[in-house]
Amino acid sequence: MDNCRRIALTGFMGVGKSSVARHLAQILRCERIDLDAFIEKSTRRTIADIITNDGEPAYRVIETENLTRVLNESESRILSLGGGTWTIPCNRDLIVANGVVTVWLESTFEHCWTNISKSRKERPLAKNKVAAKKLFESRQSIYCLADWHFIIRPEFTSYEIAAQIAEQVFS
Ligand code: S3P
Repeated sequence: MDNCRRIALTGFMGVGKSSVARHLAQILRCERIDLDAFIEKSTRRTIADIITNDGEPAYRVIETENLTRVLNESESRILSLGGGTWTIPCNRDLIVANGVVTVWLESTFEHCWTNISKSRKERPLAKNKVAAKKLFESRQSIYCLADWHFIIRPEFTSYEIAAQIAEQVFS
């Protein structure tokens, strides 16, 4: 693959997109950007606050605006998306139109849920296990549209996953 292409990591909440992106950026010696963090910085609000108080549809508009900015303005090669970003058709169109290679970090719901439960990050769309599982199941066929799939097993470290991506996607 062309070594200059940008990579976007997608996958369900709790799968480890941000940590894998951090290691991937180290391995490839390039910059990374985290869309959730970019949104929080640009809006000066937490994502949890936006979703809880303005609603998910309003959040999705903000997310698409910020994704557009990141794709147009940022030189970062590694982009970690929010868990829902890739599931929105216009976001997928933007990502594909910008020639970004997409990587789905695929794991079981139980693995994601364990990480969600342990994490301090507030996730209004995964408030309880039943709701989170329903969302997880509804998204599998959309994540599947990504260019690359990597199966994440709990015994793999984020570094090992990043190393696998670097080797396979860039060889
Ligand atoms: C979301 C995932 C979150 C965040 C927001 C919505 C989702 O990101 O963007 O709460 O729709 O799955 P993480 O996947 O990084 O938790």
